[in-house]
Amino acid sequence: LERALTIAICGLGTVAQGVLELLRNNASVIAARSGRPIRVRHVASRSEKPGVDLLGAAFTTSLDSTIEDPEVDVVVELIGGEEAADLLVRRALSAGKSVVTANKAIIAKHGDAYLRLARDAGVAFCFESAVAGGIPIIGALTHGLAANRVRWLAGIINGTSNYILTAMAQSAQPFAVALSDAQALGYAEADPTFDIEGIDAAHKLTILASLAFGVGFRFDDVYTEGIDTLNIEDIEYARQLGYRIKHLGIARLVAQGVELRVHPTLVPEKHMLASVDGVMNAIMIHADAAGDTLYYGAGAGAAPTASAVVADIVDIAKGTAVPWLPATHEDSGLRVVNMKDIHSGYYLKIPSLDKPGVFARAATILSEHEISIEAVIQKEQAVHHETDRAWVPIVILTHEISEGAMDKAISALEALPDVVGPIKRIRVEHFADV
Ligand code: HSE
Repeated sequence: LERALTIAICGLGTVAQGVLELLRNNASVIAARSGRPIRVRHVASRSEKPGVDLLGAAFTTSLDSTIEDPEVDVVVELIGGEEAADLLVRRALSAGKSVVTANKAIIAKHGDAYLRLARDAGVAFCFESAVAGGIPIIGALTHGLAANRVRWLAGIINGTSNYILTAMAQSAQPFAVALSDAQALGYAEADPTFDIEGIDAAHKLTILASLAFGVGFRFDDVYTEGIDTLNIEDIEYARQLGYRIKHLGIARLVAQGVELRVHPTLVPEKHMLASVDGVMNAIMIHADAAGDTLYYGAGAGAAPTASAVVADIVDIAKGTAVPWLPATHEDSGLRVVNMKDIHSGYYLKIPSLDKPGVFARAATILSEHEISIEAVIQKEQAVHHETDRAWVPIVILTHEISEGAMDKAISALEALPDVVGPIKRIRVEHFADV
């Protein structure tokens, strides 16, 4: 029998507890697939949790002791947060330990450095659990689709946002209630603004784009908008136009480089991503040989995330998790496309005085900016009184145009005396190959 793979689990929160439980419940199948047993030697955390089975491991409050122990092959970083986790990962890799982490925030920012450290030390750095929980999307990109050039990928990669949007669309549930439900179910980040403002999705998109396009980990270059500006009225207008509003991460190869963006998006109701509801995640990848492939599953929660963490441990045990470096930004020569140069359709909600000729003036401005209208909704009865003047929304769906042209058109529209406030814009995606 081969020597056991010895691991140290750092952290004892939801995911770490899920990992311990999975290692216990599925020990025989995991050992069979690994070719050897997995032994947990240390569990390191600030405080012990009564009732949690540590599988015979020694409990310690010292992260250092896990790195210093020559018996430990793999450090599993599940402490969360950024600074201490970053330090732990760097020190473990430098000490010649393989590292498994679910920490998308530190990978999105320092992934290039971690992979370099891992390669120099000849150890593995694995992060299947960092993106979309139980969906094996890292494996799909690095292994299953390895022979392809990826053209674009688009995903619902924050379960909390999807849960909230679904509750707003299907049961008119207020934002705050849906959010606290998602928190109670254990889906939300410790700081839920990371979910709501799109930061968590931007971390994940950074990782996916790095693997798909070899652009390095470019978190600071991702354009990021969350779901915090959406309301039920927008969801309803979108529905009347034949669309669902989903929070998407999009990475797309275009002539000028690669687009990296995270924002609420109108998705045609017949598109498969439109029916991904609740806390579920899904990622569609359009690649040159495989065509469209779609990956669907639970993106958060203890057991699905543990499933991905343990998959990495099995890979290391088998010796198939080799040190590697994806192509970097410099190798690929790809730049991240400036947001004003992306092309998209747009949903515009223009708060207007209810007077004759307003729509005609708005349409003239759009045509002066070469923007073509696809559909319009204007409801006399939808009067708003949020400002000192009553207004009605004019909702316009446009054909594709550059974001720069749309910015100029919106400024011109907002300068009209009949327009009483800021115009809401939501991008529309048709998933075309460009
Ligand atoms: N807060 C994340 C989500 C958890 O809601 O998707 C998994 O990263």
